Amino acid sequence: MSSPLIVMAQKPIFIPQPVSLQYGTGNFLIDNNTFIKFNKSDKELQQAASFFKSAINNISGIELAENKVLQKTIELKFISNATLGDEGYLLHVMPNVIQIEANKKAGIIYGMQTLFQALPAIRTNAALEVPCMDVKDYPRFKWRGMHLDVSRHFFGPEFVKEYINLLASYKMNVFHWHLVDDQGWRIEIKKYPLLTKVGAWRVDETGKVWGDRPQAKPGEPATYGGYYTQQQIKDIVKYAAERNVTIVPEIEMPGHVASAIAAYPALSCTQQPQLPLTGGDYTNMSSNYCAGNDSVFLFLQNVLTEVINLFPSKYIHIGGDEVDKTPWKNCPKCQARIKAEGLKDEEGLQSYFIKRIEKFIVSKGRKMIGWDEILEGGLAPEATVMSWRGESGGIQAAKMNHDVVMTPGFPLYFDHYQAGPEGEPRAIGGMNTLRNVYEYEPVPKELDSNQAKYVLGAQANLWGEFITKPEQVEYMVLPRMLALAEVVWSPKQTRDWNNFNQRLQPQFKKFEQLSYHYCEGNFTVGIKPVSANGKLSAVLTTDALNGEIYYTTDGTTPTLQSTKYSGPVNIDSSVLLKAVTVVDGVIKSKVPAQQNFVMHKAIGKNVMYSNPPSRYYQASGPNTLTDGVRGTFAVSKYWHGFSGKDLIATIDLGEITNIHSIALGCLQHYSDWIFMPSSVKFEVSDDGKNFTEIQTLKNTISVDEKASIINDFTANFESKNTRYIRVTASNTVCPKDHPGAGKPAWIFADEIIVK
Ligand code: ACM
Ligand code: ZN
Repeated sequence: MSSPLIVMAQKPIFIPQPVSLQYGTGNFLIDNNTFIKFNKSDKELQQAASFFKSAINNISGIELAENKVLQKTIELKFISNATLGDEGYLLHVMPNVIQIEANKKAGIIYGMQTLFQALPAIRTNAALEVPCMDVKDYPRFKWRGMHLDVSRHFFGPEFVKEYINLLASYKMNVFHWHLVDDQGWRIEIKKYPLLTKVGAWRVDETGKVWGDRPQAKPGEPATYGGYYTQQQIKDIVKYAAERNVTIVPEIEMPGHVASAIAAYPALSCTQQPQLPLTGGDYTNMSSNYCAGNDSVFLFLQNVLTEVINLFPSKYIHIGGDEVDKTPWKNCPKCQARIKAEGLKDEEGLQSYFIKRIEKFIVSKGRKMIGWDEILEGGLAPEATVMSWRGESGGIQAAKMNHDVVMTPGFPLYFDHYQAGPEGEPRAIGGMNTLRNVYEYEPVPKELDSNQAKYVLGAQANLWGEFITKPEQVEYMVLPRMLALAEVVWSPKQTRDWNNFNQRLQPQFKKFEQLSYHYCEGNFTVGIKPVSANGKLSAVLTTDALNGEIYYTTDGTTPTLQSTKYSGPVNIDSSVLLKAVTVVDGVIKSKVPAQQNFVMHKAIGKNVMYSNPPSRYYQASGPNTLTDGVRGTFAVSKYWHGFSGKDLIATIDLGEITNIHSIALGCLQHYSDWIFMPSSVKFEVSDDGKNFTEIQTLKNTISVDEKASIINDFTANFESKNTRYIRVTASNTVCPKDHPGAGKPAWIFADEIIVK
């Protein structure tokens, strides 16, 4: 075998990028004269060595030597080195010896994983060359999580192991196993056999889109489903432990448990029988445990006792998310509980529920973790919070000195699209690109260095409503998990998108060799309007490695003969811009990205705000309202958002200008707490100090309108000469019967159109 050493040694091959890495000269050859050396009396090293042996054999077919004349050794050794922590390691590859040293077994395993990444992915029966190198490495965060929902669709034990192995290969160390949800109970509980006998099986509607699946009718056979026996779970827990992966089981409560109620109807408030859900139709279904019934708590304690016996994890996840409180409002037992315990309302009841469960979990020597809704009505004393509805729950909890795990929907929900949606398998919605994931920072700016210590790490979630097959799990996770792995493992200051993108290419080859399904990348051109200094331009970007951009402004589809992008495109008339990504002379975009720009008299002008827009809704930047780009129903793009405060925007037109119309574009999006302003006032001024009101328009859109609406508040008037314009949109509160009733609403605005 000719030595690929020099080439290989130059190649950036590791993901996540190690803390420090130096290549040497020469290489080490792993063959059947290679011997693993370690202190045989150390049980942990013994375990690590057998993991290594079987992995090498899987990769190469090579049987490592037992104890021949020792030529070459791979030495495993415990050392004491404070900077390495519990999971760090040193890896020295020299021509005659490889040394892996660590404080703990976890570090030894990670040293091996790094070594495996330097080896081919598939069996060739050839000896394996490893370039000489010195690696010193340890993780930035201790919670490096991946979640999998096995309730909405079931994935068998063998695939679960594959998933865990994939996590471990990139040094992820938590597998959050979402075992319980409305559409399936997936864990055998000996004391309550109906949970799986009934709750794990439903009428098979797999061919239909989640939301269109009809409810089961009495007598229809329940053929879709499955569950893990306790024996299978023990086996999977052991498999994970060999790879330093902790399995955090999630046993949902008090909501998302229609499956448990199908098995034992007495657990709900109504106690009515129901059939297991087939999909997303919840009509007349109970999904919550009754919080007023003590036998529910007894049931949960018995369930949790079995769970705790199966999973050695310090953390037990109890869900806590998305509880519809209506059944509790209508339940005499729940209402009696609220009264007896002196609770304020149903949120207080949820808090009571979670605190009571926490007490039990703590009594068993474990810690409770839950979704950020467990903050509502008061956080349980020792709870760890998983922040999924953005980062605010995590920030709030960290400020209260509670541990948090960051898993915000953007960008860490891997059930969202990553490159489309054109050309991708149907997903639940949203868009979290590889680059979005790579650029995610788990420690929010809002936390000071002391509070930041409560951020244990980050995790990506994979909900299964739209994920019916293992191949699709792979596709959603690859390569985004690799980006997350680097975020949570590697030092923050070494993060570098282009460098990562290059290191990703050899990983793609490995995915192909291993027949993994994966996403090739996001080839959609980013179009960002830049409104500044009275001018409007469009900056075009592509995430593709060595990607070029071709564009048109006349509405035609770009081809290789169109204009090649070389810098911001000036926009000085109303145009439709279309752009595609080209790699190696091939158009890679499934459809061109496109953006309409509409000219008006405030285009490019600076906007001054009395209250700044939320940092989460930056759209194209400070002058979003004068960038010529109208919003769509995509909430996270195009719009400046203002929570609880009025939008007060002043525009300097730069010179006295003749105008006859001003409009403010606004969005209403009921489910996201976004409502029309109650009124919009338009004023003008020659000096920027003394303003004259032109008109105030009252909102005419109903606050109860649940369909999304875009509405322009437009003032038409006798033409006027003026230099300054001030627009004041008055914020409101969420309406009666809304989940946020009485709480501050959001105003979303996209453009101030001046004619
Ligand atoms: C969640 O996505 N409901 C935690
Ligand atoms: Zn009840």
